[in-house]
Amino acid sequence: MTVFWEGRPVAAQPGQSLAAALWAAGVRDLAGEAEMARGLYCGVGHCFACRIAVDGIHGVRACLIPVREGMRAGAEPGDQGDAGGSAGGSVGAGGLGASGQPGVAAAPQGDGAGPPVAVLGAGPAGLAAAAVLAEAGAQVSVLDEAPEPGGALRLVDPQRAADLAARATAAGARILCGTSVWGVYPGWRLLLAPAGPGAAGAPAELAADALILATGAVQRPLAMPGWTLPGVVAPWAALHLLRAGALEPGTRVAAVGSDPATGLAVERLRAAGLDVVAVLRPRPSPLVPQAYALAAVDLAPQHDRLGIAFLGGRRLEGVRTCAPDGTGQADVAVDLAVAGTGLSPLTDAAQLAGATVAAVEALGGFVALHGPAMESRAPRLFVAGAVTGAEGAEVAEAQGRVAGLACAAACGLLGAGPGVHARRTAAAADLDAAHARAAARHPSAAVGRAEIARRWAAQLPGTP
Ligand code: FES
Repeated sequence: MTVFWEGRPVAAQPGQSLAAALWAAGVRDLAGEAEMARGLYCGVGHCFACRIAVDGIHGVRACLIPVREGMRAGAEPGDQGDAGGSAGGSVGAGGLGASGQPGVAAAPQGDGAGPPVAVLGAGPAGLAAAAVLAEAGAQVSVLDEAPEPGGALRLVDPQRAADLAARATAAGARILCGTSVWGVYPGWRLLLAPAGPGAAGAPAELAADALILATGAVQRPLAMPGWTLPGVVAPWAALHLLRAGALEPGTRVAAVGSDPATGLAVERLRAAGLDVVAVLRPRPSPLVPQAYALAAVDLAPQHDRLGIAFLGGRRLEGVRTCAPDGTGQADVAVDLAVAGTGLSPLTDAAQLAGATVAAVEALGGFVALHGPAMESRAPRLFVAGAVTGAEGAEVAEAQGRVAGLACAAACGLLGAGPGVHARRTAAAADLDAAHARAAARHPSAAVGRAEIARRWAAQLPGTP
C-alpha cells in the first residue's frame, strides 16, 4: 500500500505502524522545520517524540497508528510542543474536566449480565485479569492505546501475547485497543477517546463497578548527549521496528545500556542479520540505575567500553566511546543506536484513582502499593503488573490472575465455597513462585517486594 509523507509517496506494509513505514523509507526526522530534530524513540506511545500530523489531525503518535491506504502525514507546522496530543501519554494518564460534557457518550457495555469491570492496560497482567473476571461472569472492558493487545509482550513473545488475548476474548472480555483513557473518577467512571485518526469510536464515558490498573511501565531515557537524535531508540522501539520488517540486515548498530531489554534487543537484532558493532556501558551516573525488564538477558559480559555521546546533525551518525577510565576516545559510525537503562512503573492512573504510590527504587521507582490480593487502599481498585514494579511478564501475568480473582470476589461473583478458597490459594502460590524466579535473576527484586509489604502494612488502620 501507499501512504504519503510531506506529499511524497511511501510504500508501506499492511500491519505496520506509520512510524515503522516511515523508518523503512528512510524518514528519521519527524520534526519538520522545528529547531530540534526528533523521531521515533520509545516505540510504544509513551514519549510523544514521534508526534506528527495525520489526515489533518495534529499530535498523532506515529508509533501507535497502523498505516492505511492513502494516509497523508507530515510534520506538524512549526514546533507545537505537545499541542493537539491526547491528554495522557499512556493508558490511564490524564484526569481533565468532568464527565457529562457535550460530545461524551456512554460507552456500550458487554452483553453479559454481571457487573461491569474496567481493566486499564492490555498487557499480560490486564489480559490475565480480564480472562479470570470474564470467566467469573463480569462484563469486562480492557482499554489500551496500542493498536494490538499484549503490551510490550507482543514485541518479545507475540504468540504468548496472542494466546492471552484470545483467552480473554473467548471468555467474553471486550478488548478496546486504540483507546486512550484521559480521565479516571471514583466510582468508577472513565473518560475515553480514540487514540488517533482511524481508531474506532468517539469520546465516551465508561462506568464500572470495579477497576484494575495494569498500566505497565515506561522505558527510562538515557541521559547522554545526543540521546534525542532521530536514530537513537529505546529497546522496545528497536523490537517494534524489527517486528514490522523496517530494519535492513547489515544496518550498523550500537547499543548503550546495562538492562535486560537492551540485551534482548541486541540478541534479536543480531539474529536478524544487523551488524551490532558496539555494545557499550553508559557512563556511571545516579541517573542510570539498574532496573528490570522482560527477559533474562544480561549485557554485562559484553561491555568493555563506555558510550559517552551520540553524534549527528538531524539524525544519528555515530557514537563516541571511551575506555572506562575516560581515555582513548573513539567514534564509531552507526545508523541505529539502542539506548536502555531499565523500566519505571507507570503510576499516573494509580495516583488519579487514589492508590498509594511510593518510591521503591529496587523495583524501578515509584510503584503502586498493594496487599497480597493486589488490592489497593481504594475500594474495588486493584493493581497488577509492572505498575507495582517491573519484574517481567511471568510475574505480571500471575499478578493479573490474583487481582482478577480478588476483584471477582469483591464483586460478589465467586461465592465462598472451598473450591474458591483453593483457587485463590493456588493463584497466590503461582505468584509466589513467579516472584521467586524473578528474584533468582535479580536479587534486589525480593528487597523491593519486601519494601512494598512493609509499606503496605504501615498504612493499614491500627498500625502504630
Ligand atoms: S510515542 Fe511514539 S516513539 Fe514514543
